Amino acid sequence: MKHFELRDSFLIGHRQIDAEHAHMVKLLNACIDISNTNANRADFSTKFLELGDAVRKHIINEEAIMTELGYLNVDTEINVHEKGIQVFGELVKDCRRNVSTEMILKQAVCNLLELMLKADLGFKDYLHQTGYPGP
Ligand SMILES: [Fe+2]
Ligand SMILES: [Fe+2]
Repeated sequence: MKHFELRDSFLIGHRQIDAEHAHMVKLLNACIDISNTNANRADFSTKFLELGDAVRKHIINEEAIMTELGYLNVDTEINVHEKGIQVFGELVKDCRRNVSTEMILKQAVCNLLELMLKADLGFKDYLHQTGYPGP
């Protein structure tokens, strides 16, 4: 499986949010490396749980940042985040079952990160419109 690439179009323009997205992608790619090299399942699960924690922390931080900057679509974001966390919770359970790591990662990439990163693009537009970070 190929690495997930955080394309420039996914950059939000907020330093902390972009750094946290990059961190999550780094952890996801580390999971992909473990999966590709057929390393043991415990190693994979440990790294995948680390990714899960990073996602949860990111969501808390991101919602706080969005609220602080007066982003009015934060409710939509909260819904996407809840869905993302739900999907992620299932994938963490899949780590303990016999689901292939490849399948877990495919779902993590498609249903979670792309869904969540795409939702953040509304906030990117908002920052652009409001001239963030200002003069
Ligand atoms: Fe985000
Ligand atoms: Fe988000």
